[in-house]
Amino acid sequence: MRHDYGYFEEEHLAAVGDIGLWQRIAGYVRPYWRGVALAILLSLVITAASLMIPYLVGVGVDRYIVNQDLQLEDRLAGLARIAWPFAGLICLGFLANLLQVILLEWCGQNIMHQLRQGLFSHLLDLHLAFFHKNPVGKLVTRVTNDIQNMYEMFTSVIVTLFNDLISLVGILVVLYWMNWRLALLITLLIPVIVVSTTWFSRMIRDAFRAIRTSLAWLNGFIQEAISGIAIIQLFLREKDTAEKFVALNRGYYLASLRQIRIFGIFMPLLEVLSTVALAMIIWYGGGEIIRGRMSLGELVAFLSYIRLFFQPLREFSQKYSIVQSAMASAERIFQLLDTRTVLPVAAVPLRPASSVGAFEFRQVTFGYDPDSPVLRDFTLKVRAGETLAIVGATGSGKTTVINLLERFYDPGQGVISVDGVDLRQLDPAWLRQQIGLVMQDVYIAPDTMRENILLGLEMSEEDLGRIIEQAQLSDFVRQLPDGLATMLGEGGQDLSAGQRQLVALARVLARDPQILILDEATSNVDSETEARIERALEATLARRTSVVIAHRLSTIRRADRILVMARGRIVEEGTHATLMAGRGIYWHLQELQNNGLHSSRAPESASPAAA
Ligand SMILES: Nc1ncnc2c1ncn2[C@@H]1O[C@H](COP(=O)(O)OP(=O)(O)OP(=O)(O)O)[C@@H](O)[C@H]1O
Ligand SMILES: [Mg+2]
Repeated sequence: MRHDYGYFEEEHLAAVGDIGLWQRIAGYVRPYWRGVALAILLSLVITAASLMIPYLVGVGVDRYIVNQDLQLEDRLAGLARIAWPFAGLICLGFLANLLQVILLEWCGQNIMHQLRQGLFSHLLDLHLAFFHKNPVGKLVTRVTNDIQNMYEMFTSVIVTLFNDLISLVGILVVLYWMNWRLALLITLLIPVIVVSTTWFSRMIRDAFRAIRTSLAWLNGFIQEAISGIAIIQLFLREKDTAEKFVALNRGYYLASLRQIRIFGIFMPLLEVLSTVALAMIIWYGGGEIIRGRMSLGELVAFLSYIRLFFQPLREFSQKYSIVQSAMASAERIFQLLDTRTVLPVAAVPLRPASSVGAFEFRQVTFGYDPDSPVLRDFTLKVRAGETLAIVGATGSGKTTVINLLERFYDPGQGVISVDGVDLRQLDPAWLRQQIGLVMQDVYIAPDTMRENILLGLEMSEEDLGRIIEQAQLSDFVRQLPDGLATMLGEGGQDLSAGQRQLVALARVLARDPQILILDEATSNVDSETEARIERALEATLARRTSVVIAHRLSTIRRADRILVMARGRIVEEGTHATLMAGRGIYWHLQELQNNGLHSSRAPESASPAAA
């Protein structure tokens, strides 16, 4: 099933005969066609050289080894003379091979480099909703493993497959030319080989699909277990998790074993066939020699050709499985590349010169799944500069309102507008510049403190200093070993939840957007940090339209207007004073919090948002 936001399945396996897919792959190879063409030419050289060698051996046997007409010295000298072209052919084959490998590696690396670059930039542009639907692990696999699979196919299969084909045809031609009766005998074996190879390919394809599926399950499970390790340990789920893993791991093991078993049958089968071919040649060829219709040298050459003939067949099956997995990878890569930002952008997106920061929801109905709406007939008008607080039970749709305002999703019905312009007519980049978002989960980039605040903006030291001051970060920055140049994030300085939120506020201050959104920005911090955040908030909220989804009484109390949401609708609206006087849901929530456990370190259970 395909979802609206571009979800794709892991288990699907592409057909090797998919012409459309090959055409697309060819599109990536085209810029390097000279290299590939040269590699193919080299294939001809390599094949010719390897086909000449058995012929030379045959000549050596007939003219000098078994030829009783010549003097002994002449025979030895002749044999030595043949060694020269023999060595020459080996050198030629070696050099051509070397050059071909270098060429193919070069082309392959270049193609993969382009593909990886394209895929990654494409991912960066994708709509956020896409990432809600597609787990990180799968996407990482796309950019790394799948590209590696395709690389393997480029370098070790495509051109060598051409090598193999040429040499198979070449060998048959030479065999018929040497002795058509014996060649005909060998030809009889070809249908057997073709049938068994086809059978094998089909078996291996199924085995492959099973391996991929179980590997995807396994990877997904590991990924989830490791990212949720704290929960697993906290709730003593280690044993349970390990047991689940045993089953998945065993599935993968069995699938791999099956593949090995299939190879295990096929490889010896080919061995048997080639031995049968040898026996037939020796038996029939021996008779031909006795009858005087064939020389011993020809028979020797024939035997070498048969060896050359079976070698590509044996490798063919391995190469087939490489192509198989590369095609599946290619299909997934292209599917990802074809996933477009689903939200349509207007033909001429508007970028108003300035914004006052007023916004409006008019009769908006929206559901992540269109059949079960999260917001129903939601109407809200916020003036420029107003501070709006939203409270409501968990799951009542508060964050959804924000998602819609950021245009991460489009509403099913109704209109959302900023400064009177429908979001769908605005340039999404412009829209996001107008809105600063502080969420509970603040992403800290593995970069310096300075870059984590500026995120690419240019700013004078004074302005930055002022922002750090306003965001209540100066004390913290002073404590850092290298001040603003201290590395944060992975491998660097770790930040507490409260510090992260201050950094997020500093980011908003640096960007100075017209609209500020705080989604539960002040939970989970101690009272001192909370006080800091309150002060930083004061600076941040000033002169801006703000939407605050907070558990904190003080932040909510200061708001110009408070909305109380329940099940996707606004059920109460007013200032703190009027709502308290009304003795409705809001009053009830406040009572709960005041009479409840604590108020300053409000845990989830005592907060209005979770009541
Ligand atoms: N990305 C998503 N995909 C599908 N359903 C979602 C998604 N995000 C939220 N929902 C659903 O939409 C409903 C409203 O969620 P929302 O996040 O808006 O609640 P909230 O009021 O912010 O709650 P909380 O106080 O817990 O943050 C919930 O039923 C939730 O399950
Ligand atoms: Mg929420």
